[in-house]
This record gives sequence, structure tokens and C-alpha cells, in this order.
Amino acid sequence: MTRYAHITGWGMAVPEKVLTNNDIAHMVDTTDEWITSRTGIRERRIAAPDQSSATLATDAALEALEMASIKPGDVDLIIVATSSPEYLFPATACVVQDNIGAKKAGAFDLSAACSGFIYALNMAAQAIQSGAIDNALVIGAETLSRFTNWQDRNTCILFGDGAGAFVLQMSYEEGGVLSAVMRSDGSGGSSLYLPAGGSRHPATADTVAQGLHYIQMNGREVFRFATRVMTQATQEAIANAKLKLEDIALIIPHQANQRIIEAAARGLDFPMEKVVLNVDRYGNTSTASIPIATCEAFNDGRLQPGDKIVFVGFGAGLTWGAAVAQWTGPVAVRRKLYLPLSYRAWAKARSILRRLMRRLEGLIWGRYL
Ligand code: UT7
Repeated sequence: MTRYAHITGWGMAVPEKVLTNNDIAHMVDTTDEWITSRTGIRERRIAAPDQSSATLATDAALEALEMASIKPGDVDLIIVATSSPEYLFPATACVVQDNIGAKKAGAFDLSAACSGFIYALNMAAQAIQSGAIDNALVIGAETLSRFTNWQDRNTCILFGDGAGAFVLQMSYEEGGVLSAVMRSDGSGGSSLYLPAGGSRHPATADTVAQGLHYIQMNGREVFRFATRVMTQATQEAIANAKLKLEDIALIIPHQANQRIIEAAARGLDFPMEKVVLNVDRYGNTSTASIPIATCEAFNDGRLQPGDKIVFVGFGAGLTWGAAVAQWTGPVAVRRKLYLPLSYRAWAKARSILRRLMRRLEGLIWGRYL
């Protein structure tokens, strides 16, 4: 029998702190009008000192598990797509695994920048479809505010912090992830990168003095590349799923810039009413933007059972990709009513305790002085 990987749970976590365009206009030479008209972004969320990619990922994961009504102990695999990991190693996914108590799960991070969530979704779906595993947690989590030069107006207007997660589960019923494409062009690597802190340029006082531990970007080049590949990848993924554009109920794109998303929709001749847009409220949350936008689309009643949807994104690498899925959601929502949720209370308590410990650690090391 054919095995399918269904999206049965979804969750998101964003920091409480809002940073508006006007706030940024007090930090660098820019205006709310410039940022809004060039990007569509009005505000973004910024992590508190005791939050990190792993804490946001954990919160999103717990919400997704609750939605899917599966226990952490049933998760076989955790993939965290991130460009702002907790550490160089161990993987952020391992921190999440421990935080939620997913005792039998394998865990690793995936680095494909803003395309990372699509790559991770595809990897987890393939593992389920092949019979290797039954349940997976796919997470996109970022605290890019920690790698942003707040004196560089070319980049600091764009990024925000947050996390989103999907639970994928095996079913013999047709649906779930139907196709995916993943592409890369490493020759464009220097268009968007973080030069120092890796093995090429290990962190030194000199690299820090030069600001090489911050995101560097050629915005125009990335813009041109993005508008080209978003259309191509969407068409390819739809064709691979043996569908037509008319079959697609909703496109959920990576939220980098409203102008890029509108250009891609124009290129496809696809109506913007069927494209999810929330870049105005969160900015570019990189790997987290697609699952966050999916959660909001569901909450807004824009996702119905059986809907065929496209996820599409691009990012540093350069990388890009798209996936087509058939939405399963409400089956899981119905099931949720009958299953106990006590594990979530336990996991949440652990998560709160860990945050308190981190705060205490911060106090001890003088972070809050
Ligand atoms: O997930 C992938 C992440 N990266 C992206 O998605 C980036 C894609 N690129 C973009 O979104 C756009 O290229 C930006 C929003 C970054 C920039 O918009 P743009 O329309 O491409 O502007 P530009 O870089 O062509 O700059 C136009 C002008 C320049 O001034 P001059 O040289 O024409 O005098 C910039 O110096 O705007 C200036 N500028 C700004 N002015 C006010 C650049 N940033 C700002 C700013 N406020 N924040």
C-alpha cells in the first residue's frame, strides 16, 4: 500500500516584543514610508533575552503536537530548519528533542536558509513515504535579530524572530505532501551570507570589529533572483504533483518582501486573493515564515480539507524550492477532542522551568545588569 505523509498538526510561536518601522527610523536613516513601500513590512517581532531559536521552536512544536494529538514519545524524527541555530553544534533539533521529551526521535538541523522549511518538509515526507518512520516534527525557527547589524539599514529593516512547526504523520489515505522541488546555485552565495564564525573565518576580535558576524546582503541581486525562481519552482512542483495551477486553492510563500510575492503571483497569473501574506506583521522570519503563515491561514478559515496548496520559498545559498500538499487538517482537529492533553501541560511546565533557569543563568552572568 502507498504511504502518504499528512500534515496533521501545526503551531507557531513569536516573541511578544514588537519593533515597528518608526522604532527602526530612530536607529538608522530610514522612514516608515520607505520600508512599507519597498517591502510591505510594518513591524516585526524581536526575541527577549531569555528566548532563542530553540525556545521558540519548542513552543511551536508543542502547539503542533497538541493539534495533531500525538505524544512527544511517538515522534520518530525532528528536523529544525534554521539559519540562526542555538549553537554551531549540537543541533537545535537536539535541544528541542530534550525540551519536549521526544525520547525515541532522531534529531538534526537543516541549513538551506529561508528555503529550509520546504527542504525539511520534503525530507520528512520522504522518510515517511519510504517506510523509514511514521511521525515527524518539522520546524522552522529563527532569532535573526541576534545576527542583524542594527546600524545597517539595508538589512535591519527586513528580519524578524519566530518559529513554526508541522507534525507529519503516515496514513494510507491519499493526500499530504504530494510533490516537492529543491534547487540551489552556490555561485550566488555571497549575495546573502554571514561571513564569520564558521571554519573559513573563525570568530576573532578582528572579525567582530569588522562586523563580519552580521548578515551581509546584496538586496537587488536577491530580489532579481527571487522573482525568477518563485514562479519556476511553483510551476515545477505543481506539474510534479500532476496538477494544474487552477487546482491550487492557496499559495503560501516565504514572506520576504510583498513586492517579490506580488511579482511571483503576476508571473504565474495567479490571483493575490489566493496568496497568503503576513510579512507586514512579522517581517522576514526566514525558515519560520511559511509555517507561521500556514497557522494564520488556518486560523483565518482559508484552509479547507482537501485543498491543494503550494509552499514556495527562496533564500541564501542560493537555494529555492516548492512543495504541493493536500490539506488534511480538520481530521486532526476533530480527533483532538477525544485525546488526553496532559503530556502538553507537563512539557509546557518543563519549558517554563527551563526559561526560568536560563533567566537565572543570565542574572548570574550579569546579562541583566
Ligand atoms: O529571505 C531572503 C532575504 N532577502 C531578501 O528577500 C532581500 C530581497 N531584496 C529586497 O527586498 C530589496 O532589494 C530591499 C528591500 C532590500 C531594498 O529595496 P530596493 O528597492 O531593491 O532598494 P535598493 O537596494 O535598490 O536601494 C534604493 C535606494 C538606495 O539609494 P540610492 O543608491 O538609490 O541613492 C539605497 O541606499 O534606497 C536606499 N536604501 C534605503 N533608503 C531608506 C536602502 N535601504 C534603505 C532604507 N531606508 N532602509
